[in-house]
Amino acid sequence: MTNHQRPKIACIGAGNVGASVAQYCAEMDLGNVVLTDVVEGLPQGKALDLTQAGPVRGYSAVVTGTNDYADIADSDIVVVTAGIARKPGMSRLDLVGKNGAIISDVCAHIARHCPDSIVIIVTNPLDVMTQLAFLKLGFPAHRVVGMAGCLDSARLRAFVAMELGVSMRNVDAMVLGSHGDDMVPLPRYTTVSGVSIEKLLAPDRVQALIQRTRKGGGEIVSLLKTGSAYYAPGACAARMVQAIVCDENALLPCSAHLSGQYGLNDVFIGVPVRLGAQGIGAVVELELTRDELDALHRSAGEVQAGLRELRQLGML
Ligand SMILES: NC(=O)c1ccc[n+]([C@@H]2O[C@H](COP(=O)([O-])OP(=O)(O)OC[C@H]3O[C@@H](n4cnc5c(N)ncnc54)[C@H](O)[C@@H]3O)[C@@H](O)[C@H]2O)c1
Repeated sequence: MTNHQRPKIACIGAGNVGASVAQYCAEMDLGNVVLTDVVEGLPQGKALDLTQAGPVRGYSAVVTGTNDYADIADSDIVVVTAGIARKPGMSRLDLVGKNGAIISDVCAHIARHCPDSIVIIVTNPLDVMTQLAFLKLGFPAHRVVGMAGCLDSARLRAFVAMELGVSMRNVDAMVLGSHGDDMVPLPRYTTVSGVSIEKLLAPDRVQALIQRTRKGGGEIVSLLKTGSAYYAPGACAARMVQAIVCDENALLPCSAHLSGQYGLNDVFIGVPVRLGAQGIGAVVELELTRDELDALHRSAGEVQAGLRELRQLGML
């Protein structure tokens, strides 16, 4: 990150999630934000709107909008939300072909204009698109990371807080695996002020909250009918930007490249990482039970199926 300058954060895709990321980054004054989209006027309009919120909300971040990739030049962090979102009845994997083409295109621009950036992928299917981005960008693995575990954990945290009637701030959760029905929530590592939820809730209630978390995205898709969630996804991507900008070395579940950890090789999947100024400082290996490890491997199988589909489509 360049010294004595505000960090530059590019958001590729100025749709629902992209605009929310921009809004949260501006509200947290994490840096100047460049919103980019292929639709003419959309990023410019949203950037102007966010700028006019600045005097009221009290931030000084400069938010601009553009259709020209040259304007993202030298961004420190690039958040990619460009792509199609799910409609009712669609699985995240249904998006592979269309979003694969978009990610390939976007990555060519990032590699050209921001070769030193840290890239956060949000586009679904998340782990497959993060791996595709890694291969297209040619960046070292520690500078390519996917946002999903933060969101899945936030959903579980919210459901636990709602169930127990406690403050959301007291709840921590850890959800590993791919961003889909095969995600691996870990109740053992889900706590309220340090106390495992297994000590606070009956087993059937724990299972019910886990099931709701697995289907958390789908629940919102069927309520909205025309698109998918964006406030919580935007907040989670901005949280990752904050961990990088502030060099926090925050322990967050993110989609990361594995090279032997958890017995998995050359696959992006949700695991706890240390996130700081260099991107992923380290993948943290938790002690897992046999069942949890098997679930993580099943989840990786789902990602590998998506990658095979990309290969069949000639995108890899
Ligand atoms: N990882 C997660 O947890 C998570 C959560 C929510 C949404 N998502 C995913 O994020 C993506 C965006 O969702 P959304 O609700 O913002 O959708 P949206 O339709 O509101 O916005 C997507 C934007 O991408 C733009 N776009 C398309 N192709 C582009 C390109 N080549 N270059 C630049 N911009 C381009 C579109 O014009 C559109 O404005 C979807 O794939 C969705 O499934 C992921």
